[in-house]
Amino acid sequence: MKFITIKSYDELSAKAADIIAAQVIMKPTCVLGLATGSTPIGTYKRLIEDYNNGKIDFSTVKSINLDEYVGLDGNHDQSYRYFMNNNLFNHVNIDKANTYVPNGCATDYDKECAEYDKRVQDFGGIDLQLLGIGIDGHIGFNEPDSIFTKETHVVDLHPSTIDANARFFEDKSLVPKKAVTMGMLSIMQAKKVLLVANGANKKDILEKAFFGPINPQIPASILQLHPDVTVIYSEN
Ligand code: F6R
Repeated sequence: MKFITIKSYDELSAKAADIIAAQVIMKPTCVLGLATGSTPIGTYKRLIEDYNNGKIDFSTVKSINLDEYVGLDGNHDQSYRYFMNNNLFNHVNIDKANTYVPNGCATDYDKECAEYDKRVQDFGGIDLQLLGIGIDGHIGFNEPDSIFTKETHVVDLHPSTIDANARFFEDKSLVPKKAVTMGMLSIMQAKKVLLVANGANKKDILEKAFFGPINPQIPASILQLHPDVTVIYSEN
C-alpha cells in the first residue's frame, strides 16, 4: 500500500486526477470504477481540464459506479447518476451508453444486483477503482457488518452515513435510508485501487482502516489485502 499524505485538497485532486489520467492514457479502453461524494469532485474537475487540454480522451473508456440511493431515479438532483453526469460525464467525451450506475428504482433488486456483478465480470474486471471512505469506514455503501459482503446488494444506510449525507438534502428526513452498492468482490478484484480522503474527520478512520486489524466492522480494512492500493489523504 502507498499512503500519501498531501498538503491541500487541491493537491489531492491533482494527484488523483494524474493517476486516473495515466490509466486512461496507458489503456484507452480501460474500465474505471467511479465514486461520488464530496471528495472526488476536485478530481473530476481536474480530469475535465485534462480533457479540455487534449491530454486525455474518454471516447473508448467504460465506467461503472459504486452505488446509488434506493428510490431516486437518475433525474433526481441527489441521485448518483445525476451527480456523475453533472460532475464529469456531461463535460468529457465519454459515451454515456458506456457509463453504468446502479438503478435506484429497480423493480427487481436481486436481478439488478446480479446483473451489475455480471457486468463487471464481463468487462474483465475494473482497471482502476476510485474510492472515498465514510467516517464509519464504509467504501461504496458497504457499511459495517459482521461479514465482508461480497456481491452487489441493497443495504440499510448506517445512521452516521445518513447524518453525513444530510448536508446534500433540504432536510435530513429526505435522505434515502437504503442504497444499492457494489460489493467487496468487484472492488477487491479491481487491478488498482485509489482511495481519496479529505479532512481532519477522516484521520481516525484511516488509521483504523489501514493500520488496524482487518475487520468487517471497518469495511475499508479489507483493502490492506489488496496488492495495489494508493491512499491519498489531505487533512486540509
Ligand atoms: C459514494 C461512496 C461513498 C463515499 C463516502 C465518502 O459513491 O461510495 O463511500 O465515497 O461516503 O464521501 P465524501 O467524499 O462525501 O466524504
